[in-house]
Amino acid sequence: GAPVEADVSKLAPGEMMTVEWRGKPVWILRRTEEMLASLEKTDAVVSDPESDRPMQPEYAKNKYRSIKPEYLVTVGICTHLGCSPSERFKTGNESGLGAEWSGGFLCPCHGSLFDLAGRVYRSMPAPDNLEVPPHQYLADTVLLIG
Ligand code: FES
Repeated sequence: GAPVEADVSKLAPGEMMTVEWRGKPVWILRRTEEMLASLEKTDAVVSDPESDRPMQPEYAKNKYRSIKPEYLVTVGICTHLGCSPSERFKTGNESGLGAEWSGGFLCPCHGSLFDLAGRVYRSMPAPDNLEVPPHQYLADTVLLIG
């Protein structure tokens, strides 16, 4: 599949857009300061906080899992059996995790939870963090995915 360009200049803080790459949904989430701060909290409850496992590009091997902290770029497909997690940015106890939940993504199929960096919470059916696709910035707010 050909690389896909994504213009994120109109994405407001806290908003997410989806582009299709190789038939897969790629999510681009523009994270607010508050969302980035939530990752400090989830550090302790995710299973692979620095994305040390293989199959991740170098620029995903940090707690933001991104080139620019503000933008999360990730494949919106659960690493368990391939369902599509839904976005849930809310804090609170909808997830059953109470104060440990700082918003993120929930997979409806078997309940895997991911934080706002796509990092999987511990003891979830999904074995790995959401995939960060190969990508680069062509300009300040123009991404090339693939
Ligand atoms: Fe997502 Fe099973 S496919 S938890």
